[in-house]
Amino acid sequence: MAFKLSSVVPWGRNFYEYKLMFALDDNDLKKKIAGFGDGPASFNYEASKLGYDITSFDPIYQFSADELRKRIEEARSIVMQQMRENTENYVWTHIKSLDELENVRMSAMRLFLDDFENDRFEGRYIYHQLPEKLPYETHAFDIGLSSHFLLMYTSLGYDFHIQAMTEMLRVCDEIRIFPIVDLDANKTELISDVIKYFDRNYDIEIKQTEYEFQKGDNKLLIIKNRI
Ligand SMILES: C[S@@+](CC[C@H](N)C(=O)[O-])C[C@H]1O[C@@H](n2cnc3c(N)ncnc32)[C@H](O)[C@@H]1O
Repeated sequence: MAFKLSSVVPWGRNFYEYKLMFALDDNDLKKKIAGFGDGPASFNYEASKLGYDITSFDPIYQFSADELRKRIEEARSIVMQQMRENTENYVWTHIKSLDELENVRMSAMRLFLDDFENDRFEGRYIYHQLPEKLPYETHAFDIGLSSHFLLMYTSLGYDFHIQAMTEMLRVCDEIRIFPIVDLDANKTELISDVIKYFDRNYDIEIKQTEYEFQKGDNKLLIIKNRI
C-alpha cells in the first residue's frame, strides 16, 4: 500500500532524548547505529556532527524537505492541542512546560529539515518501510533503534511486528525499542506476545530508563542475537 504523508504525524525528538531513551553510553555511540522510523528526529544530525556513525530509515524520506516542512507545520497545532488536553498524563521534569515542549520538538525538527535538505547524497537518511527487506548484509549494524514507533502503534499487529523486528535483527547485532507501552501508555497483550516470541531465540532485557515523558513510558526493550 502506498505510504501517505498525510497519515503521518511528524514529531521528532533530539539527541539528548535518544541518549536517555536508549541508555546509549559513550561506548554504544561509537558503534554503527541504525535508527528505524527516525522520521524528523534530530538524533542523526546531532550525533553525526559529533562524529558518530548513524543511518536513519523512514518512509517519509521519500518526500522533499519542503513537503515535510509543510506537514510538520500542519501537525504542530494538532499535536499541541492534544498535549494541552492531556497534560496530566505526562511527567514535566526534563521538559517543564507545554511551551518548552513545543520549542524542543520544533528545534529538533528544524535541525532535521536543514540537514535533510542539504545532505541527501551522504546516505544518512534512507527511504525504507518496515518490514521490507533492507539492502544490507547480515549484522551490518551493531545497534538498531526504534523510538515511538514499534510496539507503540499496536494496530500494526503481531505479524507486522514479528516481520519488522526479525528483519532488524538480521541486519543489527541488537535492537533497542522505546517505549514498550502503546499510545495510551498501556502494556498490551500484543507487546507481551511479541516479547514472548523473541524470548525463544534471542537474549531479552528490559531496562529502566532515566527518560520518562508519558507517564509509565520508562522502560526500554533490548533484544540481542545470541552469538
Ligand atoms: C512518532 S514518529 C517517531 C519519530 C522518531 N523516532 C522520534 O522518536 O522522534 C514515528 C515514525 O515512524 C515512521 N514510520 C511509519 N511507518 C513506518 C514503517 N512501516 N517503517 C518504518 N518507519 C515507519 C513514521 O514515518 C514516523 O517518522
